Amino acid sequence: MQLHEETERDWWEVEALYDLCFAPGREALSSYRLRDGVPPVAPLCLVARDRGALAAAIRHWPVRVGAAPALLLGPVAVHPTRQGEGLGGLLIREAMARAAPEWERVMLVGDAPYYGRFGFERLSGVEMPPPTNPDRVLGHALVPGAWSGVAGEVRRWCDGLPPETRGPILPE
Ligand SMILES: CC(C)(COP(=O)(O)OP(=O)(O)OC[C@H]1O[C@@H](n2cnc3c(N)ncnc32)[C@H](O)[C@@H]1OP(=O)(O)O)[C@@H](O)C(=O)NCCC(=O)NCCS
Repeated sequence: MQLHEETERDWWEVEALYDLCFAPGREALSSYRLRDGVPPVAPLCLVARDRGALAAAIRHWPVRVGAAPALLLGPVAVHPTRQGEGLGGLLIREAMARAAPEWERVMLVGDAPYYGRFGFERLSGVEMPPPTNPDRVLGHALVPGAWSGVAGEVRRWCDGLPPETRGPILPE
């Protein structure tokens, strides 16, 4: 299994994997509104290939919770023929290891029974754009205590900032 950063050449194959793994209309989900017009965090977009065949992929986007920068984990998907082999866990752990300590906190919208094993817990006071079930809004501190006192609306990385100060996709 080879793990590497996603390149431009991987993009459409990863999109096809997401189409296969998620329900139709995935791009209507509120989390996609936070990705519109914002480049992903390239070093944290990873693909796993087995003898060339795409087995799994993960992407991350930058967001702001109130004024605090955070990573939005996802989408993450494992090809149906490769699920249950630990690839999802491998990608999530590897991305978090690469993200810290530059990024202090990561969040997602997903199943707590799955993401709990990676240290994700329900975030109270963190509001995703509607409609989102608050029980599925989960966070993990990459630096101890990074979520304490962080609350408010989750916004696109560039929202509320003048264009000249939007800058590269890096935590502040
Ligand atoms: C969810 C997904 C990424 C997990 O990847 P994976 O490589 O299959 O999972 P892993 O091998 O790392 O872990 C397998 C374990 O996770 C559990 N698991 C998988 N999906 C789960 C879910 N949605 N809720 C709870 N547990 C889940 C399995 O039951 C298994 O449990 P076990 O270790 O006790 O046997 C993958 O199944 C997938 O792509 N699913 C479709 C797309 C999707 O739902 N993405 C996540 C969006 S929130």
